[in-house]
Amino acid sequence: RKKLILDLDTGIDDTLAIAYALGSPDAELIGITGTYGNVTVERGVRNALAVTELFGHPDIPVYRGVDHPIAADEANGGDGTFTVSRGSAFIHGSNGIGEVDIPDPTREAETEPSVDFIIDAAETYGKDLWLVPTGAMTTIAAVLEREPRVGSMIGGIVMMGGALTVPGNVNAWTEANIAQDPEAADRIFRSGAHVTMIGLDVTMQTLLTKRETAVWRETGTPAGRFLADMTDYYIDAYAVSAPGMGGCGLHDPLAVAVALAPTLVTTLPINLKVDLDGPTRGRTIGDYDRLNTAEKTVDAAVGVDVARFLDAFTTRVGAVAAG
Ligand code: BDR
Ligand code: CA
Repeated sequence: RKKLILDLDTGIDDTLAIAYALGSPDAELIGITGTYGNVTVERGVRNALAVTELFGHPDIPVYRGVDHPIAADEANGGDGTFTVSRGSAFIHGSNGIGEVDIPDPTREAETEPSVDFIIDAAETYGKDLWLVPTGAMTTIAAVLEREPRVGSMIGGIVMMGGALTVPGNVNAWTEANIAQDPEAADRIFRSGAHVTMIGLDVTMQTLLTKRETAVWRETGTPAGRFLADMTDYYIDAYAVSAPGMGGCGLHDPLAVAVALAPTLVTTLPINLKVDLDGPTRGRTIGDYDRLNTAEKTVDAAVGVDVARFLDAFTTRVGAVAAG
């Protein structure tokens, strides 16, 4: 079984990513590290602790990550601190899980910082370990800065973020996870570490509707009802923010799925950078300076087997919903 660490800003699709991992017989979720984005680190860690308990896995350790972006960023108060944007609160609810109430966790987060946990896990598990960041990339950038060998020690890094062939979801250029900390994502792309990028190019093709969530609700279990109510909130928010799409994008679960089954996507090998200045700040784009270098460090997903993924998603998350 592949060992997974999910680095999450535990909002709604992050929670679906947790459920996907827990419902996967070919995966062992060895830990969750909390980043920021949809919610603060504190809230995301609380959500991760609470939902893993609701899903019957109080054994999964949850760690705190870096809680603010690298740069002093105007959008984040001008001083490098982090505040949840109105857009994020609209999509994920003010509590990050669609305003659904679930019991408070009975356990605390671990005291070891995320960066140390990830580096220790890379040393312990090597190629069996897969890292799946699906929020602000600050903690992963810090890991690679402290221990650049992590990228080549582990099985791989599969990140959800960016948009290459389609518009962003924060503005025409920029996807939310990159927008949270463009410097962090840029450092990862330039670190030499090999990364699979699961951007909006593919995640906006993998849509979930209320037909599927109704099945979870019908299980009658606390996990099934929670998953259905939370995800319906997300689907309703998508109906406003992306009218006519007919469902919600399964961003973060697709990254977990690709870590377990890389052939779900077709990819473009490319050296990427992130625009850090000007109006396109946060855009993921080919790095002209490294256009002709032989080694490409990013495999950017540009195609996805939608039917195969949705089948795996409904089976695996359905197993968690059934309790
Ligand atoms: C990404 O941004 C967050 O809102 C989601 O959880 C996902 O990781 C989509 O752009
Ligand atoms: Ca996320």
